[in-house]
Formats: sequence, structure tokens, C-alpha cells
Amino acid sequence: MSGRTPTPMYDFLREVQEEFNGFMLGDYLGGGEHRAVYESRWSPSEFIIKVERPSDAAAFCNVVEWHVWDHLSETPYAEWLAPCCSISRQGSFLVQKRCEVIAEADIPKVVPHFFVDCHAKNWGIYEDRPVLFDYGFLWGIMKPIKSEKKMRLVSRVNLDKATET
Ligand SMILES: Nc1ncnc2c1ncn2[C@@H]1O[C@H](COP(=O)(O)OP(=O)(O)OP(=O)(O)O)[C@@H](O)[C@H]1O
Ligand SMILES: [Mg+2]
Repeated sequence: MSGRTPTPMYDFLREVQEEFNGFMLGDYLGGGEHRAVYESRWSPSEFIIKVERPSDAAAFCNVVEWHVWDHLSETPYAEWLAPCCSISRQGSFLVQKRCEVIAEADIPKVVPHFFVDCHAKNWGIYEDRPVLFDYGFLWGIMKPIKSEKKMRLVSRVNLDKATET
């Protein structure tokens, strides 16, 4: 034992944070209540990085968005969504494909039934088609279940068989 008190990590965090920002983040693109969005410094035309703001009323938008993409990426709904590429261990950073600005006239009039929060500012163009890029909306997917008047129960044994891999 040297007898020295180690410098606590948090003494370094501000500088490390600045270093990370300069190293990884490009221009600020916009943000809302929950996230600040930057272009990727390494591939600005291809990727954006969503940084979730720490908050007492955490909404976990990045985590939800990631899960929605993970579950729908191989379904026909995928073409309606901006693809997610990677998420950090605690969900604070989400990498998504960059979309181009969409003209008001190109925003779809008809959308998948579970979409919510699909106002004009949440749409962009990806690979020549309109996509929603803000879809941290698990409650949209839960809505059909919540609106059921009566709980539906099914056989657990059959369910287990159906989900066996
Ligand atoms: N995939 C993307 N490609 C290009 N720009 C994007 C993308 N995702 C987000 N942005 C930009 O970042 C802004 C904020 O993104 P987003 O709506 O996902 O964040 P948010 O915090 O959930 O916003 P809010 O709480 O206001 O709905 C958008 O308005 C847009 O300008
Ligand atoms: Mg938004």
C-alpha cells in the first residue's frame, strides 16, 4: 500500500467527456425532451448518434427504439423505420442510419396501425423512401393489449411449444 488516496474517477469525467464528444460527435442536428442528436464524426453522411439525457423521469427512448427495431427489422414494417445500428451498454448512445430531410408532401398519409408520435418532425427520407426516425414508442405497440376489454388466456404448454427453438 502506497498510502496515497487515489484520485476519484469523477475528477476526470468532464475532461474525458469533452474528449469523447470531440472524438465521436459531429454537428448537432437537433433534439427534444429526451435526446440530443449529433451526426457521427466518423461517417456523418451515414450515421447519427442519439444521446439520451439523464433524467429523473427516464423514458429510455434509446432502449425502446433499439428493441422496436430489433423486433421488426425482419418484418415488412422495417421499411417504415430508420434502421438502428448499435446501442451502448446502458442505452445512453444509440447509432442510427442518417435520414435526409423530407418534404411535407412526401410524409405518408397512411401509416402502420401501431405508429404513434408520427408528426412531421419525426420523418425523414432513407434510401428514397419516407421513414419514421423517432419511434421510442413501446406504448404504441402495447395499445392493442391495453384496449382489450377482457383478458385472454392461452395454454402455457402450447405457448412453450410455439416459442421453442
Ligand atoms: N435518423 C436520423 N437522421 C437524421 N436526423 C435525425 C435522425 N434522428 C433524429 N434526427 C434529428 O434529431 C432531432 C431529434 O431526434 P428525435 O426526434 O429522434 O429525438 P427526441 O429527443 O426523441 O425528440 P422529441 O422528444 O422532440 O420527440 C430530429 O428532429 C432530427 O432533426
Ligand atoms: Mg422527435
